[in-house]
Amino acid sequence: MNETHDYFTGLDRPQTAKKLSILRKYFAVWLTIWSGDQCSGWVSLEWHVIDLLAGTGQARGAQGELLSGSPLVFLEEIRDHAVRLAARGVSIRMTFVEQEPARFRLLEERVAAFLVANRVIEPLVDVACVLGDANAVVRDLRVKATRNTPCFLFVDPFGAEIRHETMSLLVAMPWTLDVLFNYMVESIRRVYGAAVGSSSRAAANERTLQAFFGPEAVLADADDVEDPATYAHATFTPHGHKAVAFRMKKPGSSAIQYILLFTSRNDTVIRIMRDVYAKEMTDHYGQASLFSVEEYLDTVDVIT
Ligand SMILES: C[S@@+](CC[C@H](N)C(=O)[O-])C[C@H]1O[C@@H](n2cnc3c(N)ncnc32)[C@H](O)[C@@H]1O
Repeated sequence: MNETHDYFTGLDRPQTAKKLSILRKYFAVWLTIWSGDQCSGWVSLEWHVIDLLAGTGQARGAQGELLSGSPLVFLEEIRDHAVRLAARGVSIRMTFVEQEPARFRLLEERVAAFLVANRVIEPLVDVACVLGDANAVVRDLRVKATRNTPCFLFVDPFGAEIRHETMSLLVAMPWTLDVLFNYMVESIRRVYGAAVGSSSRAAANERTLQAFFGPEAVLADADDVEDPATYAHATFTPHGHKAVAFRMKKPGSSAIQYILLFTSRNDTVIRIMRDVYAKEMTDHYGQASLFSVEEYLDTVDVIT
């Protein structure tokens, strides 16, 4: 089984651990909010968690140690909140999509092993691992959702795999959606460079950008590629979502590799995520920063 990809090289690992830690922190908040007293009585008892680019269920940490990949992060958090969720009578429909068959098999095995080892969550979840292109899977998603249906969507690509129309479809659905979207600025930067260059691949790269940002988006210059507001304005804010951005730097450098965009229509959770991001900014892969959480908080703008 060949799992070699840039994503798994040593340089990427501290970022991966941080990304998964941010995901875990917010998902724990999500579970706590929706199972809280303030939501009881009106919230639907069927919730959704969608991981569009689920991977193998495993990742590597800063020292090369094994970490739970995003699907396992979701399952572990549900297990850790099981008593509270069971008291609410909740059922969480989980959809994990992976298109590469070998990676999909690993994902299926790891999810199945987790469910066997953690029978406590059996009544709480309905897990579907889906082999296929996430763009096609979303078109076939059959979900009955209303404004009372919570959905958490995680989108963690290598580059520009997820089409704008796919995101628009999900964001326009009537559910109450929170999104953690990994905007792969390093990869989009490369596509942009090739699209504006004179190579024979320029037109193909331009089409990739169009599919990713959508027909309405105009990239005036390279700065637009670096700006998380470009993607947020193309995809989220037209549907009433606000967004906050966390810039994931390469270790020992100020170069930004990717940007974690968190989006929601709910101001309270946007505020919570600003706090989470500001706290994460005080730690540079184990090295304390010179600035305080409050100082970083001032730098986390809300994109509207
Ligand atoms: C960055 S990895 C995801 C890592 C995962 N979120 C984790 O935490 O372990 C991206 C995954 O998306 C898969 N992928 C790429 N394009 C896809 C597509 N169009 N549909 C579904 N999966 C895709 C890749 O095979 C890869 O496993």
